[in-house]
Amino acid sequence: MLKLAILPGDGIGVEVTKQALRVLEKVKEVYGVEYSCSEGLIGGKAIDETGSPFPQQTKDLVKQCDAVLLGAVGGPKWEKAGSVRPEKGLLEIRKYLQLYANLRPIKCWKYLIDQSPFKNEKVEGVDLLIVRELTGGAYFGSRGTEIKDNIERAFDTIEYNEKEIRRLVKIAFDLAGQRRKKITSVDKANVLDTSRLWRKIVEEEATGYSEISLNHMYVDNCAMQICSNPAQFDVIVTENMFGDILSDQASVLGASLGMLPSASIGEGPALYEPAHGSAPDIAGQDKANPLATILSVAMMLRISFKLFDAAKAIEKAVDIVLKRGLRTADIWLPRDTCVGTCAMGDAVLREIV
Ligand code: IPM
Ligand code: MG
Repeated sequence: MLKLAILPGDGIGVEVTKQALRVLEKVKEVYGVEYSCSEGLIGGKAIDETGSPFPQQTKDLVKQCDAVLLGAVGGPKWEKAGSVRPEKGLLEIRKYLQLYANLRPIKCWKYLIDQSPFKNEKVEGVDLLIVRELTGGAYFGSRGTEIKDNIERAFDTIEYNEKEIRRLVKIAFDLAGQRRKKITSVDKANVLDTSRLWRKIVEEEATGYSEISLNHMYVDNCAMQICSNPAQFDVIVTENMFGDILSDQASVLGASLGMLPSASIGEGPALYEPAHGSAPDIAGQDKANPLATILSVAMMLRISFKLFDAAKAIEKAVDIVLKRGLRTADIWLPRDTCVGTCAMGDAVLREIV
């Protein structure tokens, strides 16, 4: 029996996890996957109910489960200056579970190619994986704000040690070995010391993977090449903040951030979540695209539970639904049928056979 912790969080997180769980329930019927779910608090809702964005009871819950499914956190309600932010809960759970590798697969969905803002021939064949470092860098370095001589200043520091880089890079090389055997390591080694260390460790690790071709790319150049020649990329490995920025940018190659799932892995239970946020502007209106979360469940079945057929069945169901022309608002064109969050969930679970 697999134990899942469900952390819906805030905004559309609640709606999209609900649909993902319905899909999982269908997978249970068809593939006989046995699991149990316990729900926990994270983000703004957790602040409201406990005062903390990642309360002790959620810590206890996720420590004893096999995998975590998370919706999204954040919203204007918790953005007041000086108060604790829901996003802190997300950073804390990543650190607490040592989820140092974040995998974001981006592909050009055949039936969404016209929704992409790029020319069809540019995005055709795009199939890349961003491997983002998730527990280091500017997100976790020393920081502060102070007033000195009547001038307010703030600082955040990027810090990495060789162990943090090496363990992440190994995962990226292993994953590249299962794909097209090409790695692009993204850094800013022309300016940053952390990037120079990054590049050195990547070079060292590469000697153990002779079958994989490696190139280095500066992050500014990479941002440009994601637009000009995205099909060149197989695995992109990069540090935390570069990965955050590049993955939102690259998600548009696959039509919408609403299509981008993610898996965060470390030593213990892994965490699966859509790469998008809580979208407070459309929360509670049945407008959100649940497919990124549904596809995150497919990643969970594949990575945590090695249930490859069940994972494939979900991805295939998504493809069929898109082929039939069903679209949530973020991926809709006038020739398609616009559906809400629930109807999209219904459509996907009907196709799981
Ligand atoms: C992401 C998000 C988070 C991040 C935010 C919500 C803290 O943008 O998962 O990409 O910056 O890591
Ligand atoms: Mg982000």
